[in-house]
Amino acid sequence: MNTNVTQHDPSGDPITGWWTEAVIYQIYPRSFADSDGDGIGDLPGITARLDHLVDLGVDAVWLSPFYPSPQADAGYDVSDYRDVEPLFGRLPDADKLITEAHSRGLRVIVDLVPNHTSSAHPWFTAALAAAPGSPERARYVFRDGRGPAGEQPPNDWQSVFGGPAWTRVADADGRPGQWYLHLFDTGQPDLNWDNPEVRTEFLDILRFWLDRGVDGFRVDVAHGLVKQADLADWREPQEILSGREEEDKPRPPMWDQDGVHEIYREWRRVLDSYPGERILVAEAWVEPAERLARYVRPDEMHQAFNFEYLLASWTAPAQYAVITRSLEATDAVGAPTTWVLSNHDVVRHASRLGLPVGTPRPNGIGIGDPQPDAALGLRRARAATLLMLALPGSAYLYQGEELGLPEHTTMPDEARQDPTWARSGHTQRGRDGCRVPIPWEADAPSYGFGPTDASWLPQPAVWAEYALDRQRDVPGSTYEMYRTALRLRREYALGRSALRWRESGDAVLTFDNGGLTVLTNFGEAPAPLPAGADVLHSSAPLTDDGAVPTDVTVWFRA
Ligand code: GLC
Ligand code: MG
Repeated sequence: MNTNVTQHDPSGDPITGWWTEAVIYQIYPRSFADSDGDGIGDLPGITARLDHLVDLGVDAVWLSPFYPSPQADAGYDVSDYRDVEPLFGRLPDADKLITEAHSRGLRVIVDLVPNHTSSAHPWFTAALAAAPGSPERARYVFRDGRGPAGEQPPNDWQSVFGGPAWTRVADADGRPGQWYLHLFDTGQPDLNWDNPEVRTEFLDILRFWLDRGVDGFRVDVAHGLVKQADLADWREPQEILSGREEEDKPRPPMWDQDGVHEIYREWRRVLDSYPGERILVAEAWVEPAERLARYVRPDEMHQAFNFEYLLASWTAPAQYAVITRSLEATDAVGAPTTWVLSNHDVVRHASRLGLPVGTPRPNGIGIGDPQPDAALGLRRARAATLLMLALPGSAYLYQGEELGLPEHTTMPDEARQDPTWARSGHTQRGRDGCRVPIPWEADAPSYGFGPTDASWLPQPAVWAEYALDRQRDVPGSTYEMYRTALRLRREYALGRSALRWRESGDAVLTFDNGGLTVLTNFGEAPAPLPAGADVLHSSAPLTDDGAVPTDVTVWFRA
């Protein structure tokens, strides 16, 4: 274990820029803060809570979509890319949020959803009204069905949310007509990225938001835009993470096609024509790390989410392997590495890590499912977070994880809103459990989420003990652990230093970075610290004789 990984570009110069080491906080607008009491978070609610993010010590926020949308997939179904959904506010509220964030030194990244529009988008309405073969239909992926009367879908692709990826439409005379492709919900028709009109439209959308001052874009399903031209059958069950390249298995025809890269090169040229450092972040569920690294070559995107890291098991060898591999893969293309443990699509890490090690990634947890061990999950989540925040590169946090929030694992099924639950025939619970409005004040209505009791997803009773006002200035709370970590990370320049592993056996990981040494104990026996170690931070108290207990991370000066 003596890999010495520095972040540098191929010419040998260190890569610089705010984003290379930024800690970026994901806001899920529906669930962050509700200003008007309708039970749905909104932009004025976010603006009113920006000081929390300054207090926490993050560098930037990324906002999940807030654009006009029928909300078939919680806003990832956009019907107008240049406005604000009335549930969330108005365009001036977005401008105010950006200005207020900037005045506090926070950058703002917005979500861009280019793989599909909403079925309520004027383009799709026009496509339905137009004839097969028309320019209106050519913006989407319409095909004739198979079978004598076209009654079967054009191919066997499945939707990520379950069920077929094709829906049949009616012709003007009311008779069954062509089929359209939707890799996600029926309300999310896939765009046809071979069509120059689609490309031009998105260049213009980029400029619209760049002109309003945003610092970048998180690009939704960045690995999905281009499909294999023949739309060949794919006999596998659909999974968003299936870019996997195995000897015996070809690349899926809908993911990670080489043609996507030209699109991002063109976008990069637009971003680079603006002052300041505006960035592109790929949401690309692509394996292996070398394939993912192609999205962050010097003339493409700046960052890509590291989902391989998020998916890695909680063992020393697995964590060592994924960290080393991630650093090496991005280093080879001269990009910084990113790290992430939670987001709005996965079971929160405070619950995920409370499942037995090796449990496959659950798609939601509900009543009747094996329940995570909450105390163990939180303990491991805190250790995992301190490990992550000590790594060089950029880190993503998901709202509420700074409170140690667990997944809502006992949400009544009737309350679920994620299309996954219905489309999977009630077999996959989906993502509602990580999207519950977050608690600010233990004794206020909706735990301070808004001025009323209303909350679009039910908040569990345990939210009171996780509320921000129960943790702020409380030594040892999860919130204070995050705050101290972010302060030290900045002080020791951990985000832009070089990681060097130390030999420490199978159950413990130890590395040096930026003048600090970081140790995580995955084993059963307490791990001793070197004599004279000066402990600066730890995810839980040490043993009486100063050793590091199981599932604890420590930052110290050796
Ligand atoms: C991305 C989003 C997810 C959404 C999907 C379709 O994976 O993160 O929430 O459902 O794309 O837009
Ligand atoms: Mg509201």
